[in-house]
Amino acid sequence: MAENLIFSQTSDRKILYAEMLPQVKALVEGEPDIIANLANIAAALKEAFGFFWVGFYIEKQGELVLGPFQGPVACTRIDLDKGVCGHAYTTRETVIVPNVDEFPGHIACSSASRSEIVLPIFLPNGEVFGVLDVDSENLSDFSEIDVAGLAEIVNIVEYLLRNDTQ
Ligand code: SME
Repeated sequence: MAENLIFSQTSDRKILYAEMLPQVKALVEGEPDIIANLANIAAALKEAFGFFWVGFYIEKQGELVLGPFQGPVACTRIDLDKGVCGHAYTTRETVIVPNVDEFPGHIACSSASRSEIVLPIFLPNGEVFGVLDVDSENLSDFSEIDVAGLAEIVNIVEYLLRNDTQ
């Protein structure tokens, strides 16, 4: 597995996602433990983009439970129909929230978080495994570039879930 990630000195997220994807694939290649892989993926996203908070919530017995993440401590459990994470989980769709104060039911794990994007992650049987949640301290920080780039990351996680032997 790769030891160091290498990124251009740019804030152009399109370039950074393109540079990150092959490195993330190399990072998780041959490692069957899904939690270990999610931990490294969260670290890679933090390193590449400096996001305020990035991590995973995993559905367990009817709740979204905090998984591997990078950033400040966060809510441990979220009801399946609560918050932006719950919305992405129940609608099975990616949600961009440009201003969290305007999203009814937003769960403020940190008052510093201003905008957010959440993508559902699917199991091979079509059920939702959990979500990838990225938070920013800036308003309107996420665009279609993030939707596309993070969808590629989710594709890698879904590939790992298809091959998860544990
Ligand atoms: N804001 C999220 C909760 C998770 S944290 O931001 C890390 C939500 O409304 O679902």
